[in-house]
Amino acid sequence: MRHLIAALGLALVAVAAGAAEPIILKFSHVVAIGTPKGKAAQRFKELAEKYTGGAIRVEVYPDSSLYKDKEEFEALQLGAVQMIAPSLAKFSPLGIRSFEVFDLPFLFDNEAELHRVTNGPVGEALLESLESRGIKGLAFWDNGFKSFSANRPIRRPGDLKGLRMRIQSSQTLYEQMRVLGAQPEVMGFSEVYQALKAGVVDGTENPHSNLFTQHMDEVQSHVTVSRHGYLGYAVLTNLRFWESLPGDLRDGLERAMVDATRYANSIAAEENERAIERVRAAGNAEVYELTAEEREAFRQALLPVHRAMAGRIGRSLVEAVYEATGFDPDGN
Ligand code: LMR
Repeated sequence: MRHLIAALGLALVAVAAGAAEPIILKFSHVVAIGTPKGKAAQRFKELAEKYTGGAIRVEVYPDSSLYKDKEEFEALQLGAVQMIAPSLAKFSPLGIRSFEVFDLPFLFDNEAELHRVTNGPVGEALLESLESRGIKGLAFWDNGFKSFSANRPIRRPGDLKGLRMRIQSSQTLYEQMRVLGAQPEVMGFSEVYQALKAGVVDGTENPHSNLFTQHMDEVQSHVTVSRHGYLGYAVLTNLRFWESLPGDLRDGLERAMVDATRYANSIAAEENERAIERVRAAGNAEVYELTAEEREAFRQALLPVHRAMAGRIGRSLVEAVYEATGFDPDGN
């Protein structure tokens, strides 16, 4: 009884002080909680609530539980959610092709090269370009380098010939699979496991954290560690929502995003390493790592994708990225 009276007292004090209801920030994403993006979203929630003194409450909806790939951008633009973190390969349905630069195969050798782009003027300009769509780009979050998976060994570029390969909604990834003689199939992330299981598609590509947490290794006989391309994210908010926030709350969210970004980018490589170890230990799919020569054969086979897609992505942007990374499009 004493507790009840105390609680009632507190409630009355809050009402008397005019304590406002917290602002709800819904953050929707499509991957599992135990992935780099899933963990970073959770970290952002904790920090954002702390730094705004509880004035903002962040509700994270993982695993496509609120919106799937196709719906996420629209939900953000309509204000049905306030934050999403789509893969950089999913921006063309928004009418923005430039983010496909990240899909160019073998563009980045390592995270340091990637960060020269995402943390430099190119990354800043890319995020700014979203404002014309009513979207504020807040940060880039890492995932990692992709591996191929299928129901046959993939060791040479020709091994993908005739396979129906699931891809994200990127014309550059479409071209990548086409050049390898595969049949690309655009499909939402939430459908991939079932599609692989039912044989609707034969294979796919993803960083290991996604492969493992979606149980793709249980429905694929072979995984090839190829590091042939990169998959990462941009964290986005609705521009109108962002601008409507009082300055101190926006500062709190900005600080939370800086810290969550540092966290995301510090765990991603390790999480992917751990995920492939778990795939190996589970023993469902055979894991093969390409030798340096085999990887070079893929690189040479996929270089034409750069030439074919530069016009679509924007030549000056592609060249600025080459400049930042030291990538040689002639393959030397
Ligand atoms: C995919 O669709 O394969 C990825 O974009 C999922 C994700 O968000 O990591």
